[in-house]
Amino acid sequence: MAVLENHLIDLPFMEVKTELFASGPLTMQINKVAVVGAGTMGSSITVAFISQGIPVLLKDVDQTQIDKGLANIERLLKSRVLKGLSQQDADAQRLLVDATTDYTRFSEVDFVIEAVSENIDIKRQIFQSLDEHCNVDAIFGSNTSSLSITQIGSFTRRADKVVGMHFFNPAHLMKLVEVIPGLDTSAETVATALELGQTLGKLAVRVEECASFLVNRLLGRYMNESLWCLLEGNATIEEIDKAACDLAMPIGPLALRDMNGADIGLAVAKFNFQEYGERFRPAPILEEMVTRKLLGQKTMGGFYAYDSETRKRSGANPEMSLALDTVRKSSPGHADASKKIEFKGERLFLPMINEAFMSLQERICAPEDLDPALCAGLGMRIGPLALAGKIGLPECLKMMEEHFETYGERFRPAPLLKRYVWGNRTSIS
Ligand SMILES: NC(=O)c1ccc[n+]([C@@H]2O[C@H](COP(=O)([O-])OP(=O)(O)OC[C@H]3O[C@@H](n4cnc5c(N)ncnc54)[C@H](O)[C@@H]3O)[C@@H](O)[C@H]2O)c1
Repeated sequence: MAVLENHLIDLPFMEVKTELFASGPLTMQINKVAVVGAGTMGSSITVAFISQGIPVLLKDVDQTQIDKGLANIERLLKSRVLKGLSQQDADAQRLLVDATTDYTRFSEVDFVIEAVSENIDIKRQIFQSLDEHCNVDAIFGSNTSSLSITQIGSFTRRADKVVGMHFFNPAHLMKLVEVIPGLDTSAETVATALELGQTLGKLAVRVEECASFLVNRLLGRYMNESLWCLLEGNATIEEIDKAACDLAMPIGPLALRDMNGADIGLAVAKFNFQEYGERFRPAPILEEMVTRKLLGQKTMGGFYAYDSETRKRSGANPEMSLALDTVRKSSPGHADASKKIEFKGERLFLPMINEAFMSLQERICAPEDLDPALCAGLGMRIGPLALAGKIGLPECLKMMEEHFETYGERFRPAPLLKRYVWGNRTSIS
């Protein structure tokens, strides 16, 4: 770490060599970027930039936070060296990071990515300061997961130059960036953000502003359904995860929930429920898990148990039976055997497919972008629309209607899906 810090002190931001710059045909020339927030996302977004030769001015509130961010960047670079990056290239990339705790050098940057804590008051303060210190032409991208890009733009006098740039964790590896215009974002800003995303080697997809944007909105429906399947006794933890992997996913939804934490999952599920209503109602088992501190890997126990030494998964967690019993007793309808439809893995994806059709109906993204975005963002082998085509749209609708009869609102078929079936369409294009 000391080496990294010394380089930063020795190498003023303006003197960074520029031969390594990516030279994509950007609508607007981006020579320097700033990343505000050196946490989980800010540090991996920084690595995404420096690995393309783009210098980064990294800002956080104090030296302690900066040091944490730089240590994380160092760790990510080391892991890249282990995977084949030459030490020389890693050293060159490290030199492209300059860190600061103030805005004095922000007049030098063309594009800012904001990745600070998800709090509207903090974002307001940041965007007001950026507006004050940056060049009038500079564009501001926010990595927010849930806040309104339009509202964030309103904190500045340049709402036309504020855009959502939603990276996925870890940002240096994940292949998707969602580019989200607010109501006042200009077409040129959107084009520049899309091109910048491509320069980072990512699939950059324009997504209209909606709660959770595209990929996390669809993911939310699928994650929640996996919990309902478990709670309603349709399948075991292992059966659910296996079915999801067999059909499309690189990792099962319950194993993924354990990785991210039930507490984070609950906050996201509540947000989606508040924004979209009944079809997103969180399965109550999540709240019970949070109460019991069955948060997943961070408490060494969630859906699965983990070996305290190796941290490896050791099988389904027996404590989950108690948690499930508690919720089922408090609301017996959840385990009403007469309501069961025999479990098929497709059930996990029906709500996601439905949400995909709803998103198309709302014109949240171009139809041809939807599956590639889901595949790049979640590592799916087949996107929800292609999966619907594979199941067969009439069969999909039939299953949706059966599940709607039995389980209610979260399976109410999307009007656009019905129209596709009525119109005898066999695929979505
Ligand atoms: N973690 C994820 O998986 C993920 C994925 C996509 C988007 N996001 C979004 O990215 C943003 C950052 O998330 P994170 O997980 O990296 O959070 P984090 O808590 O790891 O990091 C936030 C950083 O912001 C810094 N910060 C707070 N106030 C600041 C200020 N006034 N000036 C400069 N820095 C400040 C904090 O010190 C901290 O280092 C959030 O908006 C989040 O919703 C997170």
